[in-house]
Amino acid sequence: MKKWTGGVLIIGLTFILLVSYSFIEKQPQKQSAYEFFHPNEGIAKVSKSVDTIAEKLQTSIRRPHLVNLDELDYLFNLTHMPKEEEAKPFLAWGQMRPLLSRSDSLPETAQGIKEAAIAWKELKSKVDGTRVSKFDHDKMEKNCSFSVSAVNSNTLFPSNESVILGIPCGLIVDSSITLIAIPDGNQDGFQIEFVGLEGKDEQDPPVILHYNVVLPGDNFTKEPVIIQNTWTYEFGWGKEERCPNHKSPNNVKVDGLVKCNEQLTRSRVEGKSNASDVNDHNHVASNFPFLDGSLFTATIWAGEEGFYATVNGRHETSFAYRERLEPWLVSGVRVKGGLRIISALAIGLPVSEDIELVGDVEDLKAPLMPNQSKRLLLLIGVFSSGNNFKRRMALRRSWMQYEAVRSGVVAVRFFIGLHKNKQVNMELWREAQAYQDVQLMPFVDYYSLLTLKTIAVCIMGTKILPAKYIMKTDDDAFVRVDEILTSLKAKTSDGLLYGLVSPDSKPQRDKDNKWYISTEEWPNDSYPPWAHGPGYVISRDIAKFIVRGHHERNLKLFKLEDVAVGIWIEQFKKQVREVQYINDDRFYNSGCEPNYILAHYQNPRMILCLWEKMQIEHKPDCCD
Ligand SMILES: *[C@@H]1O[C@H](CO)[C@@H](O)[C@H](O)[C@H]1NC(C)=O
Ligand SMILES: *[C@@H]1O[C@H](CO)[C@@H](O)[C@H](O)[C@H]1NC(C)=O
Ligand SMILES: *[C@@H]1O[C@H](CO)[C@@H](O)[C@H](O)[C@H]1NC(C)=O
Ligand SMILES: *[C@@H]1O[C@H](CO)[C@@H](O)[C@H](O)[C@H]1NC(C)=O
Ligand SMILES: *[C@@H]1O[C@H](CO)[C@@H](O)[C@H](O)[C@H]1NC(C)=O
Ligand SMILES: *[C@@H]1O[C@H](CO)[C@@H](O)[C@H](O)[C@H]1NC(C)=O
Ligand SMILES: *[C@@H]1O[C@H](CO)[C@@H](O)[C@H](O)[C@H]1NC(C)=O
Repeated sequence: MKKWTGGVLIIGLTFILLVSYSFIEKQPQKQSAYEFFHPNEGIAKVSKSVDTIAEKLQTSIRRPHLVNLDELDYLFNLTHMPKEEEAKPFLAWGQMRPLLSRSDSLPETAQGIKEAAIAWKELKSKVDGTRVSKFDHDKMEKNCSFSVSAVNSNTLFPSNESVILGIPCGLIVDSSITLIAIPDGNQDGFQIEFVGLEGKDEQDPPVILHYNVVLPGDNFTKEPVIIQNTWTYEFGWGKEERCPNHKSPNNVKVDGLVKCNEQLTRSRVEGKSNASDVNDHNHVASNFPFLDGSLFTATIWAGEEGFYATVNGRHETSFAYRERLEPWLVSGVRVKGGLRIISALAIGLPVSEDIELVGDVEDLKAPLMPNQSKRLLLLIGVFSSGNNFKRRMALRRSWMQYEAVRSGVVAVRFFIGLHKNKQVNMELWREAQAYQDVQLMPFVDYYSLLTLKTIAVCIMGTKILPAKYIMKTDDDAFVRVDEILTSLKAKTSDGLLYGLVSPDSKPQRDKDNKWYISTEEWPNDSYPPWAHGPGYVISRDIAKFIVRGHHERNLKLFKLEDVAVGIWIEQFKKQVREVQYINDDRFYNSGCEPNYILAHYQNPRMILCLWEKMQIEHKPDCCD
């Protein structure tokens, strides 16, 4: 910045003038809601004729214009914002409007904003309500609880369709639901569904997992099959996934577990050479986990990447989460068809710690920041989601206790979108006020909106808690803050990207892959260098460039947040200065290895165990 010459300034001013001119031109016509939801249609029409990569890039870099949604007015209306101390979780929120009103926002932005406005309205009124009268208005509502069950109650015998179990605060990784039941042969089969909350205007709730079991029928006249799918009010049914699956034998894995139990598939392939149809079904049926009239125990787990089901102790199926249909949305278990349920039990559900019972709140609370004259050395933004209460507590009790954090040299903040569930938001609010280390986001936490959080972290680290370095990590990562500071000492403070750097990777073009990227989203065959999401550090100049670039809307939004940072840094390299990409293999992306600097996929128990090892043995060893 300091090195700007007069010439650059003039060009800059001209540019600003031009931009303001184009603003004046555009302002009067607000974009319609339709256009906001389908921002690419106009562009798509244009780009049909132009197909070269360069031209496509041109359109993708084209400066997006601003649009407005009524919900944004609500989310950013200052009269609704909390005041003073209570306003702390909204510091980054307050600066995110330009980002959310981009016409080329990430796909789920509009939905995330609309739902956030509803959630915010509810939360506001609840918070105001408890403030006005000390009388506890929550008494009538369910607290988040670790388990819920239904045994032998009338609700367990659904005549044709009903929710048998309410899930109070959504599912988290390692939550599970177990049904003990007997298929009732009068019908073809049964369906178990995980459903979300009803939409506005009594829209049917989304089905986050539809588990449809077709029984073999009398004398195995039908081939038994398990069909998994999803359903939403807007888009209806998704693509079916069947087990056994004869069409695509390549057995993709979810969380390391095969999509279909191989025994189901193999028996069919072996039998195929020469067998009558009935025998064939017989083969599958003898391996099929569900039988008419016989009791089964089925447990469906929520994993990192998807749901998986175990029936009578054997793994049967996995189902990768689908976009916008994430486990935190689940609010009930519904059963349809011929199934007599003996008992239903959900455990491992998210619970927040009762703040009154936490003895050490003061030791866990974010330290007050010294006066702004002194910059932080490092700001660490941790991505978390509303109902991950336990993970955040584990972090507060472990690596957030490093001396550098407690003394205020390093600040750690959680970045959390609003939840659709009132109770989760209320408990999150209390947590945010108690520990002072939460930044709430003005959108509902869909996976595809993570990139917006990355920008929020940059806003925090440049405008609110200015820091020399800015780091992003996840709430299932253990960060050795002291080691990171030591490594940073030896490194440049300008143009730095430090982490597990992927220098030469390609976009995933397989449509069924979780990381699928279309050529509209990214036309080039390769990505610029980027660092893996569980933990990377950027220097302040890059963070500032990112914040300004998004404020001026001339940086691309891209849904893979870590790759997006790489893309922006590539731009920084062209416009500002050289970049040092510093790779460190001790940032473990896929778990833990001894001598780690960062370990990923650590559950709360493991996080606390790693910290204990660190305190007692002073060694970075892993826990099972
Ligand atoms: C903000 O909210 C207040 C009260 O609900 C309302 O009167 C005002 O018009 C709102 N302001 C904007 C800019 O929407
Ligand atoms: C929720 O939990 C708190 C603290 O444990 C308790 O005081 C309150 O009564 C609970 N509310 C309900 C509805 O159970
Ligand atoms: C049960 O099924 C019948 C016929 O399929 C339908 O008419 C009725 O509305 C259903 N009842 C409920 C509660 O869904
Ligand atoms: C099943 O087999 C039994 C005895 O072999 C026979 O009586 C019955 O009709 C069969 N049912 C069907 C649906 O084929
Ligand atoms: C099974 O084998 C018999 C004789 O070995 C043959 O006639 C028949 O076509 C075979 N069926 C299939 C489905 O391959
Ligand atoms: C911070 O600065 C304000 C005014 O500049 C001063 O009143 C306050 O005491 C300072 N706080 C600390 C902790 O130094
Ligand atoms: C595509 O990426 C490569 C490697 O990053 C780069 O050299 C090339 O210029 C890019 N192509 C376009 C059209 O931007």
